[in-house]
Amino acid sequence: MSLIELRGVTKTFASASEAVTPLEQLDFTVEQGEFVVLMGPSGSGKTTLLHLLAGIDRPTTGSVVVAGETVSSLKPAELARWRTRAIGYVFQQYNLIPVLTAAENVEVPLLLLRLSRAQRQQKVATALAAVGLTDRAWHLPRQLSGGQQQRVAIARAIVTDPTVVLADEPTGNLDRAAAGRTLELLRQLVREFGKTLVMVTHDPVAAQAGDRIVHIDKGRIQQGAGHA
Ligand SMILES: Nc1ncnc2c1ncn2[C@@H]1O[C@H](COP(=O)(O)OP(=O)(O)O)[C@@H](O)[C@H]1O
Ligand SMILES: [Mg+2]
Repeated sequence: MSLIELRGVTKTFASASEAVTPLEQLDFTVEQGEFVVLMGPSGSGKTTLLHLLAGIDRPTTGSVVVAGETVSSLKPAELARWRTRAIGYVFQQYNLIPVLTAAENVEVPLLLLRLSRAQRQQKVATALAAVGLTDRAWHLPRQLSGGQQQRVAIARAIVTDPTVVLADEPTGNLDRAAAGRTLELLRQLVREFGKTLVMVTHDPVAAQAGDRIVHIDKGRIQQGAGHA
């Protein structure tokens, strides 16, 4: 079985006036240790797909299996615990908490686990070292560059040692140099730490960081062959 398997997934958002179906009868698989890049026009359902993978949202029909767990049928309490162990999430806007230091931001996901303060601090130190920001641990987000903030966000995403990392346009707000460092770091998560990564991007240059590019349009996927 593949690490990620979506079968016949349809997602419909119904409102009073109209229904939107961003994903329709979608099949999508990712193997353990792959770095898959998801590309498609705005509104094509990319973020919706990542939300289903993370169990942030549920499919209307179909099944979502991630790391052996049928995410689409977990109960809310099980889901929160499962997500902490299985999923790290990186956002375009970093989503750091402005009043917390870099180290405190990275510590947040660990508060859901039964760990001592010393165990948490050890994991935070390891994650900040992995992204090269040990010397910025006590800085607030506003005292860091965009690239550094995104690296803090990546440290937060990996601090629980999740199986899968999901990144939604992680370089969308960064200049070329900072984007390059971020992509290098994401590749390192796959190569050195054995993570499985699904990254959404609009940027054809950023897309080259992955092992395989999947194109999504109007809620349907073309599982293309990998690039060179
Ligand atoms: N919570 C929601 N309620 C209603 N419609 C939504 C919701 N989330 C996304 N959509 C709609 O689903 C479509 C796909 O959105 P999204 O997955 O964010 O696209 P992308 O990330 O590819 O730009 C859009 O038409 C969007 O407006
Ligand atoms: Mg999106």
